[in-house]
Amino acid sequence: MAEVKKAFVCGDPIKHSRSPLIHGHWLDQYNIKGSYEAVVVSPDELPQFMRQMIEDGWAGGNFTIPHKQAVFERLDNVDDAARAIGAVNTVWVESGKLCGGNTDAYGFATNLDVQVPLWRSAQTTIVFGAGGAARAIIFALLTAGIGKIFLVNRTLERAEELADSFGSAVNAMNWGDAGAKLPEADLLINTTSLGMDGQPAFPLDLSNARSDVIASDIVYVPLETPFLSMAKTRGLQTSDGLGMLLHQATPGFEKWFGLKPQVDEVLRQRIVDDLNGGTRQ
Ligand code: ATR
Repeated sequence: MAEVKKAFVCGDPIKHSRSPLIHGHWLDQYNIKGSYEAVVVSPDELPQFMRQMIEDGWAGGNFTIPHKQAVFERLDNVDDAARAIGAVNTVWVESGKLCGGNTDAYGFATNLDVQVPLWRSAQTTIVFGAGGAARAIIFALLTAGIGKIFLVNRTLERAEELADSFGSAVNAMNWGDAGAKLPEADLLINTTSLGMDGQPAFPLDLSNARSDVIASDIVYVPLETPFLSMAKTRGLQTSDGLGMLLHQATPGFEKWFGLKPQVDEVLRQRIVDDLNGGTRQ
């Protein structure tokens, strides 16, 4: 009888996670006998949870807030992306060893490849926000060979610290200086929580942006953020944040269940319906 594989998403809290819906959809679609469940693990419980992972029969899982950094030191092997981003979101077992990686940059880049493939010819990008998400996105941009990145943040020191960790291609600035850089940009990426339900709107007017610029937001609640609707009003090409969430999930599924799943319209619509009707945000 085939072994039933099981995987998890763990965090604290975890009830907001859409990952069980995404992986559950693929398990059904590909008729795989396996499970993917949300597990609450507090920071205190994390060391024990990880020590027992293999013994408890987990094939691996996703780690989310607040564990993405703490997981690091408890792994036998860590991939290059996780090392550069400084956070692990996916763990799997290989030859009896605990291995970890970060799939956010992959998810971001793969989503743009699908939604706005011309992004790869961008030369100058403005990234808004300097948190953990921005770190993954800057790694994706540099990996794609984009040579000039302006990093805009309310707290300038945070942007400077992040920019310095990536070298001379990334330059930090505050919001007040961002408007003057807009005409240079081929790609605009919002990684801040601005425009998320309940948060202030995106503060920069895009009228100075070029007409062929691509605008991408990693926020997916709402799916069309004020930043994206402003970009659409100007006729710009746009890419929403839901695709990154879906694509970042595929490498983990492949590691645990042995098959690379497809991100298709049916899955996307399932998550959109859940976002529209769900209370978990
Ligand atoms: P994540 O890890 O998801 O990127 P984060 O580390 O909380 O989340 O980062 C959130 C980003 O949104 C930061 O760049 C933050 O700016 P600061 O570094 O100055 O805090 C930005 N952000 C959040 N609320 C903001 C607001 N009201 N105005 C401007 N920027 C804001």
